Amino acid sequence: MLAEFLDTSDEWIYPRTGVKSRYVISDEKLEEMAIEAANKALADAGITAAELDYIICSNVVNEYITPQLSCIIQGGIGATCPCIDINCACAGFIYALDIAESQYRAGRVRNVLIVCAEEPTRMPDWADRSTSVLFGDGAGAAVLTGGDNIKGISLSSASATDKLYQKRTLQPTPYITKEEIDIPLQMKGQDVFKFAVKASSTDITKILAQNNLTANDVDHILLHQANIRIIHAIRDFLKQPDDKFPVNIESHGNSSSSSCPILLDECRRNGRLLPGDKIVLSAFGAGFVSGAALIEL
Ligand code: ACO
Repeated sequence: MLAEFLDTSDEWIYPRTGVKSRYVISDEKLEEMAIEAANKALADAGITAAELDYIICSNVVNEYITPQLSCIIQGGIGATCPCIDINCACAGFIYALDIAESQYRAGRVRNVLIVCAEEPTRMPDWADRSTSVLFGDGAGAAVLTGGDNIKGISLSSASATDKLYQKRTLQPTPYITKEEIDIPLQMKGQDVFKFAVKASSTDITKILAQNNLTANDVDHILLHQANIRIIHAIRDFLKQPDDKFPVNIESHGNSSSSSCPILLDECRRNGRLLPGDKIVLSAFGAGFVSGAALIEL
């Protein structure tokens, strides 16, 4: 389908990215997908929206500049708790876990809803084959309740604003004299590749060392689904077998911060996650930002 309007092919895309198909928003609204994911997570957790103490939404772009997407989700699910949006690009799920964990440590919450809702297909110029073939849209949600399953989180940021960015113009005013232009998603692919492998390998090594573990002690390593070659490079660095790295990039493409919770949910639904399993989640994205979390089920 892409080759109908782009000078590209499955023979180019699949070996370089691992993507065969992706879901692209057409008549859906992102907030509808986010609300659906949130409601499914609440049902799975067996709690009602009224029992939520905090909602964290990870999102890069949506139709609204304001209000924040988390407030729209709050209304859609019928919750009344405080909510907050974060934009940590593809690493948003890990950053949201970190905020939730801080709220737990402060004794301020019992139940937290994290929703990652992303439409990255709205960011590139679809005539740009180097970016438009990579992404898929999606929403994933998780409910956190009391417990000590999160064993550690490690975050890092390294400002590199020319490697992966998009700019948009705001409303003009009578006073604006600077030049402003809309710039669709720009990506220096090879720089992103190198950053992703290094950051994720470093984050995972660090979080394991902090918990006196090695990669051999971990049952599952769930990486942000950006590119199968990035996943393979991290796998090789950690010297771990392929079956420790569940993937869904082939059918979903890169769905930004939604990729980790969608993958986590798929693993849970297909019975891959067992009580006592140790999971490492690791994600990286524009900024650059990255983070890893160690969870024991
Ligand atoms: N179809 C056909 N040809 C293409 C396509 C395409 N879709 N895209 C680029 N090309 C061409 C280029 O025009 C170029 O042609 P030229 O040599 O005639 O100039 C050639 O392929 C090589 O282009 P490169 O950009 O050098 O290709 P590279 O081997 O680096 O692969 C890729 C590009 C897949 C993006 C790679 O850099 C990569 O995997 N980077 C990681 C970035 C990533 O995964 N980002 C995801 C989003 S960010 C995130 O989630 C954190």
